[in-house]
Amino acid sequence: MLRINLLRVRVSLPPALFNLRTKLTPQAMASASFTTSSQPTSNKLLFRQLFEKESSTYTYLLADASHPDKPALLIDPVDKTVERDLSLVKELGLKLIYAMNTHVHADHVTGSGLMKNKVPGLKSIISKASKSKADLLIEAGDKIYFGDLFLEVRATPGHTLGCVTYVTGEGPDQPQPRMAFTGDAILIRGCGRTDFQGGSSQQLYESVHSQIFTLPKDTLIYPAHDYKGLTVSTVGEEMLYNPRLTKDEESFKNIMANLNLSYPKMIDIAVPANMVCGLQDISAKPVEATSN
Ligand SMILES: [Fe+2]
Repeated sequence: MLRINLLRVRVSLPPALFNLRTKLTPQAMASASFTTSSQPTSNKLLFRQLFEKESSTYTYLLADASHPDKPALLIDPVDKTVERDLSLVKELGLKLIYAMNTHVHADHVTGSGLMKNKVPGLKSIISKASKSKADLLIEAGDKIYFGDLFLEVRATPGHTLGCVTYVTGEGPDQPQPRMAFTGDAILIRGCGRTDFQGGSSQQLYESVHSQIFTLPKDTLIYPAHDYKGLTVSTVGEEMLYNPRLTKDEESFKNIMANLNLSYPKMIDIAVPANMVCGLQDISAKPVEATSN
């Protein structure tokens, strides 16, 4: 099963993108210098954290800068910032191969559909469990390769039924420390709500404790949103300070049952659009959101 899934994800890339152990040429070394200061160290990974202010969404750009093609992917792109993101991809000389979502978002329309219209060969990715449409439907255990780097898929349902967390690979050639793109499963000192889209507080508690808190403590947590200006956390930090997920399961369920949150303003627009990979019609314009 796992092998089939691996194959399915891998065959979407041109063969040239695989099995190449490129030595760092002066050119590649120059491109590696684009890598943000940041926490993860790798002479291959190019990493950018991008922000969409209306929905307070983070979009993440990852690329293998040492590969001749510089294959890149975007996690959780937003319709309103498609032009910005694609300009950055172009300026950095990257080849965008995947636009991926951690889940079917309720607060914004994904940019993956619009991007597919603008970038030939770009594939959209979402989990099979989300029951939505995309070019590649992934499951737990799948590995999504971009050049010599890869993301491992972990199923983290609870905020929605189809939520997944993408974790950078384990191994000497992969970024250290590891990085977990958690969507809304865990936010910095918080977590996504569990009262719609097949959400379940019990399931979310189990997901975080079994799939995220079992990662090395220095694993960097990059969530889909932050509303206070925080940008990154770690597994160890959240295990100590997350005000919800440090509680026992019953207390957590109690907290989640009493959040008294209002109905999301964008949900009736965003969810139907995101079930089909966002806007696909090239003539369509991004939705004028008034949410948040
Ligand atoms: Fe969400």
